[in-house]
This record gives sequence, C-alpha cells and structure tokens, in this order.
Amino acid sequence: MTRCSRVPGFYKLSVADRLDRLAEAAGLGVDDAARLRAGELLDRATADHMIDNVIGTYPLPLGIGLNFQVNGADYLVPMCVEEPSVVAAASNAAKMVRAGGGFVAEADDPIMISQVQITGVADTDGAKRRIEAQLPEILKRADEAQPGLLAVGGGTRGAEVRILEASSNGIEGQIVVHLFVDCRDAMGANSVNTMAERVSPRLAELAGGTIGLRILSNLADRRCVRVRARVPFAELATDAHDGAEVARGVVSASRFAELDPYRAATHNKGIMNGIDAAVIATGNDWRGIEAGAHSFAARSGTYRPLAIWRLVDGFLEGRLEMPMALGTVGGATKVHPGARLALAILGIKSATELGMVIASAGMASNLAALRALASEGIQRGHMTLHARTVAASVGATGDLVDRVARELFASGDIRPDRAAEILSRLRTDPTPQGAAS
Ligand code: MEV
Repeated sequence: MTRCSRVPGFYKLSVADRLDRLAEAAGLGVDDAARLRAGELLDRATADHMIDNVIGTYPLPLGIGLNFQVNGADYLVPMCVEEPSVVAAASNAAKMVRAGGGFVAEADDPIMISQVQITGVADTDGAKRRIEAQLPEILKRADEAQPGLLAVGGGTRGAEVRILEASSNGIEGQIVVHLFVDCRDAMGANSVNTMAERVSPRLAELAGGTIGLRILSNLADRRCVRVRARVPFAELATDAHDGAEVARGVVSASRFAELDPYRAATHNKGIMNGIDAAVIATGNDWRGIEAGAHSFAARSGTYRPLAIWRLVDGFLEGRLEMPMALGTVGGATKVHPGARLALAILGIKSATELGMVIASAGMASNLAALRALASEGIQRGHMTLHARTVAASVGATGDLVDRVARELFASGDIRPDRAAEILSRLRTDPTPQGAAS
C-alpha cells in the first residue's frame, strides 16, 4: 500500500487515537495493530531468549517521525528515545525538506568488512604477495562457510591485504586481511565473523605467522549511505527570523562544525539523535552504528561533521554521508516483536532502503537543531514541547493540550500541579484562550 506520512494534528491526539491513525496510515494488519494497542512489544519470555541473566524488560517511549519523504516515497519512522523534542524536531524538519522535494538518498551495496589479523610475520611483503596470489581460493573457502548467505545472493566480493608497518617503539609488523562480504538484508556480523574464522588458518599458513583477531570492522565504509536535502528559505523562517537569515545561520553553524572538532561532536550527536532512535526501534545494533559513524567522521585524521550545509541555487542544501550497517533479517529484528512491528510501520523492503530512511532521520534531526540554534536558540522549542508533554501528562487531550501548554509556557512555571490547575479551569471554560486576540 502507499503510505502517507503527513498526519496533521497527530501530536494533539490521545495515545489511543494516535494508534488508530497510525494503524490506518501504515496499513497495519489486525495482529500488529492489536499488539501495538496492547503495548505488547516485548514479552519476558522472548527477552529471556535474547540476552543473558534477564530479570525483565526496560521500556522506552516509542514515537513516530512524521512527514518523511525519501526518494519520492512516504515513510512513517518509528523512533525510540528518552529525550524530549527529538521526534517532534525531526518531524518538523522532515516537513521543511518535503517542501523542497523530500530527501534524495543513495546507498552502497551492503558490503561488510571482516578483518583477519596475522601476527609474527617476518616478511610482510612476501606474505602479502603469497596471500594475494591465493585470494580466489580464500574467497571460495569463506563462501563455503555461509551457504545460506550465498543462497540469497550475498557472499564475498573481494579482499585486500594490508600491511600494518612495524613501529619505531618495537611493535612488530602485522598483516591484516579484509574480506569484503555482501550481507544482503542482514547486518552480517555472524556471517562475516564465521567466514573470518574459516579462512584464518590458511591465511596464517600463507603468511608464515600466527592467527590473531577475526572479527568484523564497524568502520563499514563500503556500506555507506548518502543523503541530500533541500529546503526553501521560506520554510526556515521563525516568528522573529527571516528564512534566508536562518539559512545563512545554518551554513555558519555547519562551517563551525567543519572547523572545530568540539562543535563537530555535538553536531554529530544531533544527527545521531534521529539515527539511534530509529535504529533502536528497528532492533538494530546502535553501538555498531555509533562506532561506524564516529570512526568515519574521524577518517581524515580530524574529527569532522557527518553532514554539511550550504546555500545552493536559492535553497539551503545539506549533504550527509556515513556508514549504515543495518539488518532487516536475523538478530533482534527477527525475534523482537516490537522491532518487527517497527519494520511493518516503515514498510521497508530491504536493509539498504532502511539505511536511507534512517540516515534521512539523522539529517532531519541535524537540520532541526541547527535551525533552532541559528535562530531563537534550542531551549525555547524544548520548553514549548516540554509544556505540551506536561499538559498531556495531567490528562489534557485534543485542543486542550495546546491551550494548557501555552498558558504553562507563558507562566514560566512548567510543573504538573500548575498544569492540572490550568486544565481544570479551562475544562470549565469552553472559550479557547486567545481566541479573541
Ligand atoms: C541535543 O540532543 C542535540 C543538539 O545539541 C545538537 C546540536 O547542537 O547540533 C541540539
């Protein structure tokens, strides 16, 4: 079915009404919709099979990122995060990008790198030559270790032999062999680790050394996604700031991050707000995504922003590039009912497609943060949303959420008891606050 990610007024609905709208907008099946309504996203017995020493489950809020359009298709993006404003900010920014044609994304093939370390190699140049001469045989052995992956069209796509030079402080030279493995819709950790273990004895024999580590690299720089977003200036305007002025502010913020690792770290944290939230919701390994993101950001030797912004052809244009090692099959995505539901809400068909959507969520988070920082500052938006959350927490629904939140915000005293007072007064006063002004 064709999804529509524009659901105006979603935030004003009660949770129950939101679930109904979501089930409809995402075309969820009866079972998925019932699971969502019952809040049964992870039962204890399933959790007990997932990790060790289980004592329970630990819920986090799950929200929906709205307005996303990526390569012409709409996506409702499940986001699991503890931080207020992340979901709303990403949804607002996605709406701005939508007005500029939506996110345009492309992705590499899903190639993971598996590393085999060989130590104690006396003649590293000779070892490299000998291994390179036998690569077809090595790759065949690796593929034989993963017939299931081959059956779905994945498998090795090449290899490279690297010499890590001996250092002046006495550390001996080492050989590292990288196997490049197309993991299709799996994140691929198990497959590539198994392959590395299978070929390591032969590699050590050829190198005349000792087997060392055999493990994937989280610097998955052959599995990158690139996203472009364009925003018309008018979309960026705030009450107090003209759109072109905000666009220039976002570019200046981008240049700040390009010049200063201290700022780049926070800039990238803002990107990861959107990315991690969707990675967690879909049951993927967010530590792997984080490790990949930050090692990629530092690959030039200087830590740099993952997304940069410029003024191009009368638009604010952002570009993001980063590794995106995700799976839609296997691991938690297979056994965690909430993760399966998140994938159903997204309507994703492949891990590559998931990577493009999740990277777009990262760009949206980045845009929202830079727009706020370049105009009114981040706190105003946070406090407005906080006021809404507090209003909803004391029982405000529908239009009352905004009315209570407005008064709360204006009072400068955003507390539940104050919200409850305002709510009970407004319930007896049918006139929307400010209707006459
Ligand atoms: C807060 O979670 C994220 C920001 O600090 C990102 C940024 O500064 O770009 C607002």
